[in-house]
Amino acid sequence: MTDFLRLAEDIAREAGDMILAKRPTMSEEIETKSSPTDVVTALDTASEELIRERILAARPGDRILGEEGGEAPGESDVRWIVDPIDGTVNFLYGLPDWAVSIAVEVKGQVVAGVVNVPMRGEVFTAALGEGARLGGERLRCNTGVPLAQALVATGFGYSVARRAVQGEVVAAVLPRVRDIRRGGSCAIDMCSLAAGRVDAYYERGVNHWDFAAAGLVATESGARLGGLRGRPVSPDFALCAAPGLFEELHDLLAPLDPERDA
Ligand code: IPD
Ligand code: CA
Ligand code: CA
Ligand code: CA
Repeated sequence: MTDFLRLAEDIAREAGDMILAKRPTMSEEIETKSSPTDVVTALDTASEELIRERILAARPGDRILGEEGGEAPGESDVRWIVDPIDGTVNFLYGLPDWAVSIAVEVKGQVVAGVVNVPMRGEVFTAALGEGARLGGERLRCNTGVPLAQALVATGFGYSVARRAVQGEVVAAVLPRVRDIRRGGSCAIDMCSLAAGRVDAYYERGVNHWDFAAAGLVATESGARLGGLRGRPVSPDFALCAAPGLFEELHDLLAPLDPERDA
């Protein structure tokens, strides 16, 4: 295990434990962000503060990009990418699928990723070139699944305008696949793919902090991760599946993409 991965895992576990301990008293405090459906709780903020403190105590010069705190300018080649709670709406409703996600990027490449799912007692980890793991067990995504038999995870983000289009895309995808899942956490969706619990994942409008750690877990499990039309994964579009299914799902999604000429 790399030093980066060990530190990221320690911090993600500590943040998860803190959230579980404080959840009964603090989770009711909420504010909204980009839209009325885009909520942030006091524990999203507290989790990110704890994570930032721990990273900077161990590695004072590193840069940090976090969903709630943004990014301060810096010179370091090392950047930590933090989603303090991925799946805030699940968290708010007491559903178990929310996660603390921490990735470490060196010179723009993610080299280590941790997704801690405290209410399931599951910690997904990956180091570049060293595989993806859940509780020490090596993960391998499902392979050889045709589109018609694929269980496909997706998400909708918070933009009201975009959601109407995303509804149309789902309506076109649903008759072509085994079924759709909307779990409520991008990071857990991608880790579920790595663990063979779903076959594919796509979403428009996710952010770096949503997919940085889980993207490495997925690719280290054998999945392909990218955008549409040969582009890399980005906040524009994230598509993930084993090779073969990736291309089949891509060819279904690309013509449905409202921003195909952008
Ligand atoms: C959200 C979750 C959700 C996805 C949204 C994300 P948050 O993150 O990952 O599954 O559909 O696009 O913004 O706000 O819960 O950290
Ligand atoms: Ca959020
Ligand atoms: Ca998120
Ligand atoms: Ca979040």
